[in-house]
Amino acid sequence: MSIDERPLSNPLPFVRGWLRDPVGVGLPFPSSGATARRLAQAAFGAAIPGAGPILELGAGTGAVTQALVENRSWTERVVAVERDAELCRALERRFPGLQVLRGDALDVGTVLRDAGLSSVSAVVSGLPMRAIPAGAAGRCYAAAFAAMPAGGAIIQYTYGFRPPVDPKRTRLALEATFVGREWRNFPPMGIWRYRLAGQHPAL
Ligand SMILES: C[S@@+](CC[C@H](N)C(=O)[O-])C[C@H]1O[C@@H](n2cnc3c(N)ncnc32)[C@H](O)[C@@H]1O
Repeated sequence: MSIDERPLSNPLPFVRGWLRDPVGVGLPFPSSGATARRLAQAAFGAAIPGAGPILELGAGTGAVTQALVENRSWTERVVAVERDAELCRALERRFPGLQVLRGDALDVGTVLRDAGLSSVSAVVSGLPMRAIPAGAAGRCYAAAFAAMPAGGAIIQYTYGFRPPVDPKRTRLALEATFVGREWRNFPPMGIWRYRLAGQHPAL
């Protein structure tokens, strides 16, 4: 199925997902197309060539997945993790062929191991990190970095104005860089890039 033939996102699974888990889903509507394109650009800019697929954590109904897949026709090179069963089914319907892993992205090491994935080139996270205890967020990021070669990056988005995972509150030596705020989103979306301190991609 070509991108143009792909069914548009049905908003109902997202609304129902939010009703089931308002804290985990955040708001009852997905990221805007402008936000999704900016996130995809940040992910492609940070991706380590040849290291594997781009890993998306908390894919919802696929607003960001759409931009990741569109930019490079990467359906087979994006792996989406989502905890909500109905949202996983919505992703599979919307993106035939996409690898969708149903599981707890906070335990991403186990999710990747169970799927037989040993390496990814970049991580994009829509997880509601501001609502997640610092220890659990730090463990999630540690496992995500362990799945990438040195210099790997996590692109994280948030409605808040501060880094959603506070480098001072995790055991990881994290560097948080503000990529920008996308105003064509309700509410405006902040985009952050995390790397392990001192690790930069090879030129
Ligand atoms: C803010 S929404 C983002 C959805 C979509 N990526 C977007 O930008 O519209 C957060 C998503 O993360 C999922 N989620 C929250 N906690 C999760 C967890 N621990 N493991 C996997 N998915 C999780 C929610 O079900 C929801 O789909």
